[in-house]
Formats: sequence, C-alpha cells, structure tokens
Amino acid sequence: MKKTKNQMLIIFGASGDLTARKLIPAIYQLYKDRDLPENYVILGTSRSDMSDEEFRNKVCLESEHFSDEEKSLIQSFADKIFYQAIEGYEEDYSALSDRVHELNNEFRTESNYIFYLSTPPKVYKNIAHKLGQAGLNDESEGFTRLIVEKPFGYDLKTAQALNKDLLEYFKESQIYRIDHYLGKETVQNLLVTRFSNSIFEPLWNRNYIRHVEITNAESIGVEKRGGYYDKSGALRDMFQNHLLQVVSLVAMEPPLEATAEEIRNEKVKALKALRIMKDEQTLYEHTIRGQYGAAEINGEKVMGYREEEGVDPESLTETFAAIKFYIDNWRWKGVPFYVRTAKRMPTKVTEVVIHFKSTPHSLFVGANRDNKLIIRIHPDEGIMMKFGVKVPGQGFIVEEANMDFYYSQLTRNRVMGAYERLLLDAMQGDATLYARGDEVEAAWRFVDPILDYWQNGKDVRMYGYAAGVWGPENSDELIEGDYIWRNPGPNIADDPGFCVLC
Ligand code: BG6
Repeated sequence: MKKTKNQMLIIFGASGDLTARKLIPAIYQLYKDRDLPENYVILGTSRSDMSDEEFRNKVCLESEHFSDEEKSLIQSFADKIFYQAIEGYEEDYSALSDRVHELNNEFRTESNYIFYLSTPPKVYKNIAHKLGQAGLNDESEGFTRLIVEKPFGYDLKTAQALNKDLLEYFKESQIYRIDHYLGKETVQNLLVTRFSNSIFEPLWNRNYIRHVEITNAESIGVEKRGGYYDKSGALRDMFQNHLLQVVSLVAMEPPLEATAEEIRNEKVKALKALRIMKDEQTLYEHTIRGQYGAAEINGEKVMGYREEEGVDPESLTETFAAIKFYIDNWRWKGVPFYVRTAKRMPTKVTEVVIHFKSTPHSLFVGANRDNKLIIRIHPDEGIMMKFGVKVPGQGFIVEEANMDFYYSQLTRNRVMGAYERLLLDAMQGDATLYARGDEVEAAWRFVDPILDYWQNGKDVRMYGYAAGVWGPENSDELIEGDYIWRNPGPNIADDPGFCVLC
C-alpha cells in the first residue's frame, strides 16, 4: 500500500451541499478504514460566517448524511475539522493563509496542502490566483494540489481559458480535475478487462466489432438543480465529461505502463481521434435531443422539465441526448459509437455494450444474432457475455445464453465509493483517475459543434418524451441496420424491449 503523507485538506465552498453530502462522508469513511495519515486536518472555507463548532455540526455531527450509530463514533474525527470564513473569493487571503499555517504547525501536517474547489466555476480563477498571491501554491516545504470540480469550462474556449488561468499559479502536475465516474470501480475495470485478458483484446477492433453502445439513464429529473441544469443540459452535464471519459477507456490503445501519464496519453489520443461533426447534415442525422414532459408514473404525477423549479418555462435545454459518432484511427475506422444520456428514464443504469459482428455465414436457425459483451457500470455491477447455444432437441436451433460475472460475488470487503477513491488518490499524488487539461479540451473540441448546431442550426429538432419512457421513440432510428438500443433493466440479465411505465 502507498504511504499517505500527513496533510491538510482546505475546502473552498465548504458551506455548500457537496461538502456535507459527498466530501466529509467520504473522508470519514477513509478515517474509519484507517486510510488517513496520522496527522490530517480539514479546513472548510466559504463566505458564510460560522465557527468551527457550527461547521462541525453542519457537515458532520448533526448532518443527515451520517447515521446515528456513526454519530457516536464521529467525535474524534470531527475534532480535526475547522472553519475559516473569507470575505469574498476575490479578496485577500491573508487571514485564511494565517489559519492554514497555524493549523499546520499545531497538527504537524508538514506543509502538505490540497485545496478543493467546490464553488461555482466562475470563481476558480480568482481562488487559484489569490492562493498563488498568498504563497499557498508554494511547494518548497511540502506539496500543494488543487482539486477542481466540474463543470470544467462551458465550451472549448472557456475550458482553454480556465486551463490557462490555473496554470498561471499552478503546474499541470498540481491540478486534479475530478470526474467522479473515473472513481467508480467498474469504470476502472474497463482497463483491466481489456488489458489483462488475452481473449478480448484481439477482437477489440473494427474487424470484429459492429458497434459500441453506451447508455446512461437516470430515473430522477433535475430535482432541485433546475437553475444549474437549464444552463447546462445533458450534453454538458454528462456527455462531455463522464461519458466521453468512458468512451476514451473503451477506445484507447494499450498504454506502455499503468502510470498516470501513460494512461492519460492514450486516452487523449483516443479523444483526439473522435471525428468532429462539421456539416449540418451530419449533425442532423447523428444527434437527437429531447426533453421530458409531464406524466404519471406508477400512479404518481411527475412534472415536466419546463415546470421544474429554476427552469425557464420555454426552455430548449435537452434532458435527453443521443449521439452517433466515429473514431478515426486504425482500430476503430468505420465502427459507429452510439452514446445516450438522459433524465427521467424508466430506470437508473449505466452500461457499455460491445456488439460483435455476426458470423459471416449463417448455418443455423436463429444463429445470426451478434455476440454482445455488456459491461455494467451500475447498478448490478458486472460483465455479461451473450452468445448462441443449441436448444436441446432435434435439429440445430440456436438461442441466446448468458455468461456472467457479478461484482457482488467477490468476497472481498466493501468497494470504495468514487469520492473516497479519488480523494485518497489525490492525497497520494496519483492523478491516473483525474482528467488532464488536454483531455478536457479534446472532449470540448468534439462537443462544441453539436452544442452550436443545437443552438443555432437550421431544422434542429427537440423531441418531447413522457417522463418514465426510454426517450423519444425515434431515437432507435439513430442506430444503423436492424438494431435498436438495448433498453436495460435494473439487472444486467434483464432484456426488456421498449418500456413505458405510465
Ligand atoms: C453528475 C451530474 O455529474 O452526475 C448529475 O451533474 C448526475 O446530473 C450525476 O445526476 C450522475 O452520477 P451517478 O454517479 O449517480 O451516475
């Protein structure tokens, strides 16, 4: 096991929801599992005025995100949590800097600091610059790292500007752009499935794969985040970051070795090979967007997107996005990738389906189906291979059978949550599961023309779909040939068709 140095975590935007909901529970879990170093301190900061005590109560001792049982164990953890208000993100950070140094001396955190930016993105630049001006980017006595939450830019131009702004005071090796999908075990397992088994890799190319399908569906709507979501939409919220990260892991070449730089070099090469859609005809044919409307699901009335709090009643923001695209390189030439993401679908699921080509000549009845490898990211995490077997009896009738592996079958203890894993990696200086600046820019370079077309193009369609169905019905038309989306159920083995819950 790697050693984690003594250190301090300074959270900007600490009064916000993410700190109480994700960050503090993840660090507490690391604490319980004895993964934190001996000397570890958390310092929250934001513009709200709070004492250490009030902050501890809010994010820990009285937090709804801890069970009562946990609350009894938590006091010694809470004692290492502190709070320092700042006037504003653009103001001088000397009071914050004094507090950081004071805590560093008192708790011997050896001048190792991680700054976590959990604030609106518009203040990222100010924070990085003010930290730099206060000398808090200095690495002469320990390490200094900056973790940046998404959204990382709003388009290519803003992402490039942000990279440039951060690089004025921090080196790329100090910047950790968090994408919680990379913290999921099943996403990391894509690398292991591909590169530690000799049975898949020889088939993993245009010669054997017909198409690749990725579905990310959520049954919830935009909940209380309508204000944010309406300016973002499905493409920016999920596709540009989480799903293109998954695509890069499916598509990348084998890295020279399993190090952060080698793995990220290959991922960025795959992202740079995405064929950018330039003309309106291609964009028209290869993209579908939709928005959910009101419906009744299991007897319960569900509001439409435009009625959600914080959403413009005439909004043209997509809650469903399906994109067909190609990767122009030796391995993937001519293989279509289909990726869709949406809110208010029948179930919550994320999975990758590799569709292999059918046999060149069909000998048996029913044998002409494609073999599929289904990699389930969540829920019911696992991998399933679908292949043809003979139906017992006379003749050669073929039926599809499943060969499967479920993570739940592994007897090993608890699987780390995404934030735990990513925070621990950052503490240990391992950036493998963090997005590099050039990866983020390559993803935006692909997404920008789609966003531009959806906003300004001619004949752009926005389909409605009733909350609780698999999106606009015509989304199947995106898929070439005699294929439709696999509309998965909560279990990997479910093979439902088009499913309507209302
Ligand atoms: C977030 C998006 O990044 O990911 C949310 O902003 C989305 O809109 C969430 O709900 C999904 O994450 P997960 O891990 O539940 O699939």
